[in-house]
Amino acid sequence: MTPAERIAELRAQIRHHEERYYALADPEISDAEFDTLMAQLEGIERENPDLVTADSPTQRVGGRAVEGFATAEHQAPMLSLDNAYTEEELQAFDERVRRGTGLQAGAKVTYVAELKIDGLSIALTYEDGQLRRGVTRGDGYRGEDVTSNVRTIKAIPLTLKNAPAGRYEVRGEIFLPRSVFERINREREKTGEPVFANPRNAAAGTMRNLDPRQVARRGLSAYVYQLLGDAAAGSPVDEPIGASHSATLERLAAWGLPVEPNWRTCEGLDPLLEFCRAWDSRRRSLEFDADGVVVKVDDLALRRRLGSTAKFPRWAVAFKFPAEQATTKLLSIEVNVGRTGAVTPYAVLDPVQLSGSTIQLATLHNAGEIARKDIRPGDFVLVEKGGDVIPKIVKPILTLRPSGDAKPRPFQMPTRCPACASELQRPEGEVVWRCMNTSCPAKVRRGLMHFASRRAMNIEGLGEALADQLVSSGIVKDYSDLYRLSIPTLEALERMGKKSAANLLEQIERSKSNELSRLIYAMGIRHVGERGADALAGALGSLEALMDAPVERLEAVQDVGPVVARSVRAFFDEPRNRQLIDRMRAAGVRMAATPRVATTASPPLAGMTFVITGTLASMSREAAAGAIEEKGGRVSSSVSRKTTYVVVGTEPGSKREKAAELGVQTLDEAAFLQIIIGQ
Ligand code: IVH
Repeated sequence: MTPAERIAELRAQIRHHEERYYALADPEISDAEFDTLMAQLEGIERENPDLVTADSPTQRVGGRAVEGFATAEHQAPMLSLDNAYTEEELQAFDERVRRGTGLQAGAKVTYVAELKIDGLSIALTYEDGQLRRGVTRGDGYRGEDVTSNVRTIKAIPLTLKNAPAGRYEVRGEIFLPRSVFERINREREKTGEPVFANPRNAAAGTMRNLDPRQVARRGLSAYVYQLLGDAAAGSPVDEPIGASHSATLERLAAWGLPVEPNWRTCEGLDPLLEFCRAWDSRRRSLEFDADGVVVKVDDLALRRRLGSTAKFPRWAVAFKFPAEQATTKLLSIEVNVGRTGAVTPYAVLDPVQLSGSTIQLATLHNAGEIARKDIRPGDFVLVEKGGDVIPKIVKPILTLRPSGDAKPRPFQMPTRCPACASELQRPEGEVVWRCMNTSCPAKVRRGLMHFASRRAMNIEGLGEALADQLVSSGIVKDYSDLYRLSIPTLEALERMGKKSAANLLEQIERSKSNELSRLIYAMGIRHVGERGADALAGALGSLEALMDAPVERLEAVQDVGPVVARSVRAFFDEPRNRQLIDRMRAAGVRMAATPRVATTASPPLAGMTFVITGTLASMSREAAAGAIEEKGGRVSSSVSRKTTYVVVGTEPGSKREKAAELGVQTLDEAAFLQIIIGQ
């Protein structure tokens, strides 16, 4: 395949998945799988810049187009901030401010220093104290109207305390608290879902969800730091209201809005530098990721004098905390073989402390990148922990590179697979080398773990260590061998007692009667995710029918595109794969679709009665009633002592008073959303 063909194929796949995600709110692949497609396209386009076109998904601001949200114009552009990476750059900012305001030499400017929250900026509109709208930054001029998602964030009040009359815009940052992020990732790990790289990605992914109920479940939070007036009413919109920024922060807090409490006023540069240094070392103690300190001129009249450039205000700067880095020795470069045979190099480091943990491994992406950075085994290297979970190598430290005989030699990508010695191949247009041998033990081991994973054949107890032993001892050469294991064979393995052997065999036996869709997904056919497997199983009814279906028949299946269809066909055209299936059939693995069994558990809202009053922002009353009934609850039109909850929207009727009279609990919209999603 030429690079142009591969680019066309990737773009088509990406567009297909974008539509599934945004237009149909029914994704077929995980966010991480989507990101991998995007990264592949970016990689090939980087190597072939002449093939980049304006309509490529890589050229869109923010990556994915959000067709599911309406866009809305900002009343004043949401500017970004100029950065200062060193104390000298911060000093230069202070000098520019003093010059720009014509202050006398030696005069000090009063600044406000705030922590810079690494999240997503949001503009909130309040009218007469009521939250009316929440819009993302977008391109700075137009953003996405995410009001229904914003309303589920408990930190953002729907009604302001001591509500001022008129319309105001409050700007701030939405973020995912670190503890919640860790909990979500632990849960995702358990269920075999890909983990989020950092809280920012998790928050961004959540805000793009079209279902506010799912957003409510995630536990997002927010802080605000800016107040603008009402353009329509003639008050200034391009700068905050009031005399000073510090007074604004106090006012926002008094209205019940969340203001990050660690802000300080600083007289001149010295206390600012102190603030930045102190938080650089203390930032790990915060409940959110802070990537710097935002320094703002406090006096709003001075701010007006300074004004803005097209991109940044001249009265503020973001002092960025340095990425945490360390120097260590690169002991060796090893390669890893993935389930699909992709062979990727990684660095083995002399263990070193970085961001509070010991680092021994770092990613190296691909052979091209290693050559570009001239990283050699034996070099001292600078490692950095940025936004990603796995640290990366910034560069080799050439002044420390030994010379003469000890001089490290450039890394050579192996030409043969480290696991099975078959020759590696690099398909045209791709940057990744692959092992094409379907029985390669490294691939089999990875494949085995996928096969057994919870969402595939769900064989509990088949973890990495066991998969490793089974494959390296030669007991398991492909999935079908699992179905021939016996207690004595298993008992001969390390750390395997009779009881665990029996449990494992029971799990394997049980997996024989799994739904066909699980088996199809478990085979690890390229491009076939859970949804695709489900659609194929439903449409074809048996594995035999699937194996023999021509591409046209596969493509005719709803939700199956040409790429998936070709991939399925290619998989079953491979004689080894057909033999594998014959062996599994002989072992008694079910190969026909069975009707799904309905669940008999009692629904979560059984026995509860709800009354709805007023208007809900995120859904109509009918939709709310539908959601309640779907969960087994009942909706009534009048409040009585038997009512479990009264759901109170905006402009509620007399039912709210009736609830108070009878002592019936009321729920605001956010709390209601929490309940109907079962938390
Ligand atoms: S003030 C005119 N204050 O950082 C710009 N921004 O890199 C007004 N951010 O787009 C922004 N914490 O999303 C401000 N305490 C803070 C902030 C903050 C995070 C974000 C904001 C902005 C980005 C610029």
